[in-house]
Amino acid sequence: PFKQRLLVVANRLPVSAVRKGEACWQLDVSAGGLVSALLGVTEFETRWIGWAGVNVPDEIGQKSLTESLAEKRCVPVFLDEDLVNLYYNGYCNNILWPLFHYLGLPQEDWLATICSFESQFEAYKKANQMFADVVNEHYQEGDIVWCHDYHLMFLPKCLKEANLNMKVGWFLHTPFPSSEIHRTMPSRSELLTAVLAADLVGFHTYDYARHFMSACTRILGLEGTPAGVEDQGRLTRVAAFPIGIDSDRFTRAIQLPQVKNHIKEFQERFAGRKVMLGVDRLDMIKGIPQKLLAFEKFLEDNPNWRDKVVLLQIAVPTRTDVPEYQKLTCQVHEIVGRINGKFGTLTTVPIHHLDRSLDFHALCALYAITDVALVTSLRDGMNLVSYEFVACQASKKGVLILSEFAGAAQSLGAGALLVNPWNVTEVASSISYALNMPSDEREKRHNHNYMHVTTHTSQEWAETFVSELNDTVVEAELRT
Ligand code: UDP
Ligand code: G6P
Repeated sequence: PFKQRLLVVANRLPVSAVRKGEACWQLDVSAGGLVSALLGVTEFETRWIGWAGVNVPDEIGQKSLTESLAEKRCVPVFLDEDLVNLYYNGYCNNILWPLFHYLGLPQEDWLATICSFESQFEAYKKANQMFADVVNEHYQEGDIVWCHDYHLMFLPKCLKEANLNMKVGWFLHTPFPSSEIHRTMPSRSELLTAVLAADLVGFHTYDYARHFMSACTRILGLEGTPAGVEDQGRLTRVAAFPIGIDSDRFTRAIQLPQVKNHIKEFQERFAGRKVMLGVDRLDMIKGIPQKLLAFEKFLEDNPNWRDKVVLLQIAVPTRTDVPEYQKLTCQVHEIVGRINGKFGTLTTVPIHHLDRSLDFHALCALYAITDVALVTSLRDGMNLVSYEFVACQASKKGVLILSEFAGAAQSLGAGALLVNPWNVTEVASSISYALNMPSDEREKRHNHNYMHVTTHTSQEWAETFVSELNDTVVEAELRT
């Protein structure tokens, strides 16, 4: 059957490369919600264009990596070390990321950040142009070009400058903050204008879309309509497309013999204790210190639970060259050490903290044996970990404690226990409530979430976005 060609352009390819020899590459699956969601999309003839997460200065390396990636339908964009430093570590992850999540600029070195702003912004534009050049090389007429995330806000503009007829969509995987926050950005207007070059602009929630529209109105003076943003008769369609997961992949996985083995192994290992689980990239937006402090408070207030509960925290290393992330790692280790020192015994500790990623099967098994999952993001575009947990809980029907500041709170709010992660007392008492919850209430809450997660899939998300993009382009042609 005919499948429409889709060029997915994202900073991060679904695989990251590790060099094993002059022309020899190991490809590991990349972590993060963007990659997980898009890997579930099979309706289209998809090609990925992005960065392989590695510096490849030599020609032999570039050629061999391009060939290895081609087998995965991936096309690399090669960014040199200086550019990665200014564009990815600097502008993307030291400025845009914290700002879009309401964390402000890094406190300690904000002066340095402001001084390097110009050079980082220049690097950002340059990197976006390099992604555009690779897209142009691979583009065929009729292709859909789908740009992703805060790394590539200039891409729609670069693409349309080269070819006005290209169908270009852009989707943001993070929150879009209140226009009062966006306003503080020195590059506030240029970023908005560049995004508006797209035909369709999508967000996870209606709130984020609304924030974007008000930013366009207040900062650019453009008119917002229910359909989108208008500039001199040209409409950029703006809408909410809540992402989902490939839920079948998880429900199938927990039936596999190797996953069942893991499940059995974990159940024996933690017999007699309730299991609480956190799975996050080690990122300040995930509220990991806040989660640990709440768990500590819970142990303090509930001495009878101390030897009957364990918190497993999987903290996947991420963006390790950015100083803020290095500081966070130290801070988290310190808190874990303190709590384990305080409540541990000769044979057990209350917190198992891992600084690494897990393979998919082990992750599914962990989700399946968990009694209470703890998602305490300070802000989070959607948070797919909460969806994945629910998808694996068909038999256990455990409880999800979920931050009200995650996009997922809007879809899983009725089934989860919603908390303000800054309120340690509230989170601690939610932990207690969750651990003591009667099974009929757990079942009711679980069913609610399970229904949502299995019917709002990543496949459906992508199909809706692409069909909306096709329609938008047709409507625009009719108008002119
Ligand atoms: N994940 C992973 N490796 C791990 C643990 C988690 O790839 O060891 C995946 C997880 O399954 C989920 C994604 O990383 O799909 C995290 O997505 P989420 O939306 O929760 O947060 P993000 O990392 O995008 O901020
Ligand atoms: C979030 C972002 C993604 C990013 C992922 C992992 O999900 O929205 O764009 O890929 O984090 O971060 P990294 O910097 O390793 O790509």
